[in-house]
Amino acid sequence: MKRVLIPASLIAAGIVAAAVHAGVDPGIISPIGAAPSSESFKQFNDIFTGEWQQYGEVFTNWQSSLFSRIFLGILTVVPVLFFLHYIVFGAKHFDHSGPGVFYFSVFTRSIHWLAAVSFILLVLTGLLVIFGKFLGGGTLIMSGRSVHIGAALVFTGTAVCMFLIWIKDMLPMPHDIKWMLIMGGYLSKTKKPIPSGKFNAGQKSWFWLATAGGGIMAYSGWYLYSFQAMTDQLRIMSILHSSLAAALVAFFIIHLYMSLFAIKGSVTSMITGYKPREEVEILHSRYKIPDNG
Ligand code: HEM
Repeated sequence: MKRVLIPASLIAAGIVAAAVHAGVDPGIISPIGAAPSSESFKQFNDIFTGEWQQYGEVFTNWQSSLFSRIFLGILTVVPVLFFLHYIVFGAKHFDHSGPGVFYFSVFTRSIHWLAAVSFILLVLTGLLVIFGKFLGGGTLIMSGRSVHIGAALVFTGTAVCMFLIWIKDMLPMPHDIKWMLIMGGYLSKTKKPIPSGKFNAGQKSWFWLATAGGGIMAYSGWYLYSFQAMTDQLRIMSILHSSLAAALVAFFIIHLYMSLFAIKGSVTSMITGYKPREEVEILHSRYKIPDNG
């Protein structure tokens, strides 16, 4: 009995010391047990959780309903917008005959496809977690979580490689502003030279989001997985993780649209490594094609 009483009294002393340290009247502790009131309970919690306690409800609401709505919105609105773009402007066609321009090495293509597979797994399993409560939770969601962690490890490695491979060509240039102003010529059916180097401003935005954003996803994801942080830090990491994931999913849908539909045959460049010369001369008019290109 004595053994139990000593640690218990130590804990009680610790609580009182914490209360005094936090500038709270230690008297608030006395009602707990005898006749606890909600006010004294709140003050007691304040000692440990501080101001963050008041954000708990907001955070729980965001996690349980706001993010699932945002993701649902992105998964429906973005494809519909680009479907309408396709109906109105159609795909851009370029002459695929003749020798092409060499764009992507075997290593670049391999890394890219590894990134694509791991990223798709991340998106699918991430959505499982977001919509988990509508899918009944359970084993499916827990297995999804394990796949999510494995895919995250692979994707982080590929994001580092993509960053190093492409960083030189992805730095912002003055003509990127012009590209943005004319929306890359995608709101017109005419074929006019577009101000862009090897990669255009849209591709650069995707690159930075996928690589730097991917790094932030890995960093915040690590905290959520290991749980090695204070409650408030975990909440910030969780909101950061979900918000960035929403932006990544939106841009990924756009990336798919550009690669598979907006430019006819564009995906072959990531398979063979070559782009049609006419496409490069028009869509990347500022790119100096290397002599051996
Ligand atoms: C099935 C999914 C994917 C397809 C079909 C695809 C297709 C392509 C194609 C065709 C290109 C060359 C575009 C061009 O230069 O005209 C490309 C480039 C690129 N991809 Fe993907 N990709 C996919 C997934 C991903 C994923 C998941 C990421 C990273 C998270 C990614 C990151 C990039 C980057 C950074 C580039 C270079 C910049 C750009 O062209 O946008 N791709 N992709």
